[in-house]
Amino acid sequence: MGKKQQYNITVIGATGAVGQEFLRVLEGRAFPLGDLRLLASARSAGRTLRALERDLMVEETTEASMAGADFVFISATSEISRQYAPIAARAGAIAIDDSSVWRMDPAVPLVVPEVNADDLAAHQGIVAIPNCSTTPLVMALDALRALSPLRRVVVDTYQAVSGTGAAAVQELQEQTRAHFEGRTVAPAVYPHPIAFNVLPQVDSFLENGYTKEEWKMVQESRKILHLPDLALSATCVRVPVMICHSEAVHVEFAGPVDPGAARKALAAAPGIVVQDDVAHNEYPQPLTAAGTDPVYVGRIRTDASNPNGLAFWVVSDNLRKGAALNAIQIAETMIARNIV
Ligand code: A2P
Repeated sequence: MGKKQQYNITVIGATGAVGQEFLRVLEGRAFPLGDLRLLASARSAGRTLRALERDLMVEETTEASMAGADFVFISATSEISRQYAPIAARAGAIAIDDSSVWRMDPAVPLVVPEVNADDLAAHQGIVAIPNCSTTPLVMALDALRALSPLRRVVVDTYQAVSGTGAAAVQELQEQTRAHFEGRTVAPAVYPHPIAFNVLPQVDSFLENGYTKEEWKMVQESRKILHLPDLALSATCVRVPVMICHSEAVHVEFAGPVDPGAARKALAAAPGIVVQDDVAHNEYPQPLTAAGTDPVYVGRIRTDASNPNGLAFWVVSDNLRKGAALNAIQIAETMIARNIV
């Protein structure tokens, strides 16, 4: 079948933190865009949003609103993903879903194009994008495993509030302002204040003592890297940062890996930028990475506790590579490979 000239995109959750970033990322790419349709809840229906030099009215998400789409990008709630991804697929579109609902379904490819684009070929109408902390981790691990097989990974995250959504961004702003005005604002989105605080809880707790977010990192990394037995332990931490997730990563390999070789392998990997010049205090930071596409890696050094280990630091924009950009790259890859 020949390629179409233009592809229609419908965005469910267009008014949200990721949905808005999706529109900004789309604006900066040469995507062969046909119609663009913006959906959200009934609360937003009738609002006008400007995107890609078009004034578009937000519509309520309904079954009928899936018609005519080639790609339906979903970043709303888990319930919406569960309900609408199959409806979009049945309507002939490819649903690219940002929730955790479909990620571990064996019939659904879970894809970071730089790592496992080949998995897209088996799609059945739904493709999942990984959690925003998994994506940068697997990109770094994939680049490094060419040097020596991975044995064990320990990762601690420092995650931005925008990963929780627009309401969490507002909560951090309000609590920060209130602090300097001598007021307190009761936490609503998180169980404790997030301004001037650090919460070792991202998502809810499981019986094994880990949080869902930590367990997502384990399972999703195994699926994307095709390493079902990869030993991985994560501690996910919410920090008062607006945009960008940071991660301190310790990797044990089958044999020693020279930090210089690791730097080269990471720098050569698509989508990764090495920022590692400690003599000039240069390393990845959320403030400098926010609003940009790459996954940044720095502080690359031999793990002092393990001759076969490396320690390093990763930062990436959770709304872009962690969500919207990855989704658009999936659509672009599917078009390029003619599997739409
Ligand atoms: P709305 O703005 O109308 O509530 P965030 O992750 O920033 O919190 O954004 C969540 C997104 O999901 C918003 O675009 C929100 O739309 C959308 N959303 C929430 N609930 C529903 C729903 N029941 N149907 C469709 N979209 C929803």
